[in-house]
Amino acid sequence: MLTAQVVFATITGNNEDIADIVTEKLEELGCQVTETEISQTDATDLQAADICVVCPYTYDQGALPDEGLDFYEDLQALDLTGKVYGVAGSGDTFYGDDYNVSVDKFAAAFQQAHATAGAPDVKINLSPDQADVQRLDAFAQQLVTSCQKH
Ligand SMILES: Cc1cc2nc3c(=O)[nH]c(=O)nc-3n(C[C@H](O)[C@H](O)[C@H](O)COP(=O)(O)O)c2cc1C
Repeated sequence: MLTAQVVFATITGNNEDIADIVTEKLEELGCQVTETEISQTDATDLQAADICVVCPYTYDQGALPDEGLDFYEDLQALDLTGKVYGVAGSGDTFYGDDYNVSVDKFAAAFQQAHATAGAPDVKINLSPDQADVQRLDAFAQQLVTSCQKH
């Protein structure tokens, strides 16, 4: 059975909703999933999963979640060779060039850790709508397919 860890950072709940949607779909696809909040997560926990997912919010001018900075630093220093990763986050298009920058930053951190992108990053505006749920379901499906091929 494939294992997955889905880590979210949230203030108002949107990214927890995204993490819940991805978790539910991964479970439906037969994965054993652990879903955790970022400040309660040790980055090394990811080494036990086949699929690693992060769902982060973006704050002031493209800033990472404060409570996720330790996790972010530790993630970059890991060796996740052979793991499949995905990043799906919610921001707000109101912030223009800073829209969902945390998604890009976490994707870069996974690259730095030598993990393999299992699906294109997903950027969601505010709370996920029906179309976003479909995008997230497709994202989860792609992660599983990539992992099986890997
Ligand atoms: C003070 C403040 C600054 C923000 N800055 C950004 C930003 O730079 N880029 C962005 O995409 N969203 C920004 N947002 C929007 C949040 O990322 C967005 O509301 C997101 O859905 C929050 O996720 P959460 O519900 O999981 O906390 C900002 C929100 C607040 C309140």
